[in-house]
Amino acid sequence: MDGKAIASEIKAEISREVSAMTAPPSLAVVIVGDDPASKIYVGNKRKACAETGIKSLLYELPEDTPQKDLLGLIEALNASPEVSGILVQLPLPGHISEPDVLTAISPDKDVDGFHPANAGRLMIGQAKFPPCTPAGIVELIKRSGVTISGKRAVVVGRSVNVGKPAALMLLAENATVTVCHSRTRDLADVTREADILVVALGKPRFITADMVKPGAAVIDVGIHRLGGGKLCGDVDFEAVREVAGDISPVPGGVGLMTVAMLMKNTLAAARL
Ligand code: GUN
Repeated sequence: MDGKAIASEIKAEISREVSAMTAPPSLAVVIVGDDPASKIYVGNKRKACAETGIKSLLYELPEDTPQKDLLGLIEALNASPEVSGILVQLPLPGHISEPDVLTAISPDKDVDGFHPANAGRLMIGQAKFPPCTPAGIVELIKRSGVTISGKRAVVVGRSVNVGKPAALMLLAENATVTVCHSRTRDLADVTREADILVVALGKPRFITADMVKPGAAVIDVGIHRLGGGKLCGDVDFEAVREVAGDISPVPGGVGLMTVAMLMKNTLAAARL
């Protein structure tokens, strides 16, 4: 499953829509501190903005920024007619409450879809801003020509930002969904039932070939840096590719789709 090609296709579609608008959408990106991974992610998001004609506004705050200052910035961005979407890069430093910050973002500018109002809308099938990674997973599956309806989907991982919403979105696409996690007994017996296997548990190369049904579509959401700087996912790619019907690589899979879906949500926010 070619996340790079599919994400490019989506960005080209967005770029066409943006160029037909009188004013381009704008995305405010807020980063607190110097986490190196976060800096790379923010750089990738801003690059995608440039590719699609979306204006990006960067707010880099020091690690020791008081929570009230961050909340003050969010309040100003909420009120600004120049700002279509707001993204606060996670994780935040330990002295700042992530729920407090995410809840302060206007639900109408919450392009990550992390505000409780948007999580609730997803739950009732009325999502305005579907969270970017799960939306990217579903889009990658569909545009790879894999039918979801009626299939058995297994999601490994139950995180708030990926596993749980991915399960809801696959359910909305009429899959029969099972969610597994660290306490699941006989995990391999469950994963072997999957026609569509979504892996987001955060352990390098955890899913091995014997855990995968022949012909299954395997979507790898993990990303890990191995010694020597090489990247890998939660799936043992070289072994599992021999068994799977379709498989998403790391890098070149879900990560690029996440960023493409962020552009899509920013366009939707501007239209709103
Ligand atoms: N950190 C890791 N992934 C994400 C994401 O999708 N959004 C934000 N805001 N922070 C992240």
